[in-house]
Amino acid sequence: MPEKPWDGRFSEKTDRTVESFTSSIAFDKRLYLYDIEGSIAHCRMLAEQSIITEEDASQIVDGLHKIARDIERGKFELDESFEDIHMNIEARLAAEIGKVAQKLHTARSRNDQVVLDVRMYLRDEVTHVLTKLTALCQALVDLGESNVDVIMPGYTHLQPAQPVLFAHHLMAYYEMFKRDMARFKGTLERINVMPLGSAALAGTTHPIDVEYTAKLLEFPEVTANSLDAVSSRDFIMEVLAAASISMVHMSRLSEDLILWSSAEFGFVEISDAFATGSSIMPQKKNPDVPELVRGKAGRVFGNLIALLTMMKGLPLSYNRDMQEDKEPMFDTVDTLKGCLDVYAKLLSQLKVNGTAMHQAASKGFLNATDMADYLVTKGMAFRDAHHCVGEIVRHAMDKDKELQELSLNDLKKFSQAFEEDVFDILTVEQMINRRVSGGGTAKENVTRAIKEAHETLKLEKAEDGSDKRKKKQRS
Ligand code: ARG
Repeated sequence: MPEKPWDGRFSEKTDRTVESFTSSIAFDKRLYLYDIEGSIAHCRMLAEQSIITEEDASQIVDGLHKIARDIERGKFELDESFEDIHMNIEARLAAEIGKVAQKLHTARSRNDQVVLDVRMYLRDEVTHVLTKLTALCQALVDLGESNVDVIMPGYTHLQPAQPVLFAHHLMAYYEMFKRDMARFKGTLERINVMPLGSAALAGTTHPIDVEYTAKLLEFPEVTANSLDAVSSRDFIMEVLAAASISMVHMSRLSEDLILWSSAEFGFVEISDAFATGSSIMPQKKNPDVPELVRGKAGRVFGNLIALLTMMKGLPLSYNRDMQEDKEPMFDTVDTLKGCLDVYAKLLSQLKVNGTAMHQAASKGFLNATDMADYLVTKGMAFRDAHHCVGEIVRHAMDKDKELQELSLNDLKKFSQAFEEDVFDILTVEQMINRRVSGGGTAKENVTRAIKEAHETLKLEKAEDGSDKRKKKQRS
């Protein structure tokens, strides 16, 4: 075996600095199992098509299985001089079974090989992300359900606006994460396409059967254009974009939790197991976990931008720049999974201070809209009602009272339309329960949403379980 698989036309050895500069083994070693699985399928196809003999193929397959076992047991030292995981495994195969190893790379290039490995890696990881998103959704729904009567102020511009159910607020995040799940599922369709056979860029002269390879590797489709297959990374971009959006959602949830757990709000308490202290101020309990999640959103966005920027100026087809796709991808997957895990747990242990929330929702004129709506039901135009209640609010502020604390006589000075029944609709409970419009915060809506969410999540889990059973059968 020559020192490098490609050194036939070279008369000088690779400079050491170039060797380490171009090497990707430090990070692409994570792809080893996919690389081996892909090689086994490719090899079986070569034999099936009589491109190599059955005997050669079975030696190669046995050798590859042994390498997988050796790597798992830590008996295989990866060698930086072999650039990447593909060359490391190929070199090791040669060491194990001799010259016949060199037949494996027939009708294949590292350009289609690497893209196969990444597709296999991502389809597994996206499935894991979906499992974790389901768990996070479940934690949100459960927290909402066990606090379904808790009323809090809803905000716009971070100013108290109208009361909402705490569960309604949580279910808003559930909706976001549910869309994230749909987005990730969508990426699977584009990831799950088998690129082998594209070879370096133009296809191959050998009589290969890519459908057969695809079947062995459980890909429902094969790539339609060899140049596209080795050139494109939009299936990774999509995952990084979906991950970025999920991080936006988690980061906003973090911001809510950080505010709510502050002394000024006091709406929730993060359990001791998910908070940290200060090294100097003994009284402190800090929301470091949500803060870190919020902070990590930045690196996930950065990874997406890194990938987009790396790709944007590249001529077709493969360019070595594209080796730079892996670290942002791995980092995004790891970061996202870590955040999802910690969040599902943190939420399941969150302590909710319903009394503080209710108190905050009961002051500050959060019932002003309801009072204006009341006047509308008595025949006043909404804009006039808005103006009238605005004046009442100013009056109440001067008297240091809430709207419900004014007397009917006081109110009648502003409009004769007021009757005793106005006080019925000014309570926080009424404000919640009268908002029955689609997607509104009425308890009947929120309980229905929670019930539907339980059903949706049950289906997600059943789907996930059957995927896992299938995978187990395969391995
Ligand atoms: N390590 C390379 C990558 O990740 C593998 C493909 C190398 N292909 C090549 N023509 N040098 O992109």
